[in-house]
Amino acid sequence: MSRPAGMLDDDALDLDALWLPFTHNRLYKKAPRLVERAEGMYYTTPDGRRLLDGLSGLWCCNAGHRHPRIVEAVKAQLDELDYAVAFQVHHPQAFRLAGALAARAPGDLNHVFFAGSGSEACDTALKIALAYHKARGEGGRFRLIGRELGYHGVGFGGIAVGGMANNRKAFAGAMLPGVDHLRHTRDLEHMAFSRGQPEWGAELAEDLERLVALHDASTIAAVIVEPMQGSAGVIVPPVGYLERLREICTRHGILLIFDEVITGFGRLGHWFAAERFGVQPDIVTFAKGVTSGVVPLGGVIVSAAVHEAFMHGPEHLVELFHGYTYSGHPLACAAGLAALEVYEHENLFAAARRLEVSLERAVHALRDEPNVIDVRNLGLAAAIELAPRPGAPSMRGLEVFQHCFERGVMVRYTGDTIALGPACVASLGEIEAMVEAVRDGIRAAP
Ligand SMILES: Cc1ncc(COP(=O)(O)O)c(C=O)c1O
Repeated sequence: MSRPAGMLDDDALDLDALWLPFTHNRLYKKAPRLVERAEGMYYTTPDGRRLLDGLSGLWCCNAGHRHPRIVEAVKAQLDELDYAVAFQVHHPQAFRLAGALAARAPGDLNHVFFAGSGSEACDTALKIALAYHKARGEGGRFRLIGRELGYHGVGFGGIAVGGMANNRKAFAGAMLPGVDHLRHTRDLEHMAFSRGQPEWGAELAEDLERLVALHDASTIAAVIVEPMQGSAGVIVPPVGYLERLREICTRHGILLIFDEVITGFGRLGHWFAAERFGVQPDIVTFAKGVTSGVVPLGGVIVSAAVHEAFMHGPEHLVELFHGYTYSGHPLACAAGLAALEVYEHENLFAAARRLEVSLERAVHALRDEPNVIDVRNLGLAAAIELAPRPGAPSMRGLEVFQHCFERGVMVRYTGDTIALGPACVASLGEIEAMVEAVRDGIRAAP
């Protein structure tokens, strides 16, 4: 296939100008890994190799890559409207998608604010929480509580409430004031090799009472947690934990924010994790799977009560001084509407719930492989944690990742934890192929 004028061919591909995100750039550029095409469960590399995608892109292509219905909708949208001014004007597709999301969100979560990514969604949620209390005359509630090992994107709000040391340490001097963290719920002594939700650990939620006692509830605006922690390596909430967090937040007038950027849109077999766990947050964030990764989109859905608190004062005044040029971009909304339709018409969440059983069985069969210290899973998410090699943390994880890639399977690694997050359209054979590649990789990384 000839390339458009001005594009370099692969032999001449200049790697220098691009600084890759969350990547060891110098090592990468010595042996770059590229994919050029994708369809369904597979990528194709520039040299024509097929790669089974074990991570739905980056936890986002939940309906598989390039689903024809979504691709078609984006193309059709492009023929109608490329961009519409987001402030004071807007376009019908954004209203349609907001309505469709509100109808599918649990309980009274029924007002949608669009952003462009998960990071923007998180910062939006935190700002809404602070502004909500101020609007109700409780501006003294300025504290935000996150959780250790939490990941809420890379904006300044997100890294402040986030709890991953590497994402914070270079920016320590620029953290938001008044942020504190719950302790995390990863405890290998009590929970290693739990299938699904660990039975032990609901009481870890009482840590919120410690922070309330320390700071006083009257200073705390919101608690933000991922219902299941994804980026830190699939840390599954203990049975009863989220329920306890909800109770404590309600008792103290603190908003509960679920960051559902990974857990939404089928990852846990439902539209939202809130539905799966039967716990109602005041605000959810979303991104990734909302468009099945086809066009970037993020946002938050807030409860009727949160929204209502803003809708006072003179009508000609802006209620929330926040928003993005690309809030509700027409292409993203078209992709989102089509993705929702695909999830529903193809019963993909029911498929995810069936596949969950197979994924669980397959990953837990890795328990006795060398250096495996934990296996965790929930929905279409699983992690295999390896003991770090003495003196070389993360090396085993990297080697397993490289081995899988060479064997034709894309997995993710964070430190020495390998994560799998197949799309809802995966077959049983594909799930098994992913797990077998990981098994080989573990054996090849002594
Ligand atoms: C829970 C959570 N929140 C926020 C984000 C950030 O999303 P984005 O990378 O689209 O900014 C992520 C990304 O993985 C995430 O997992």
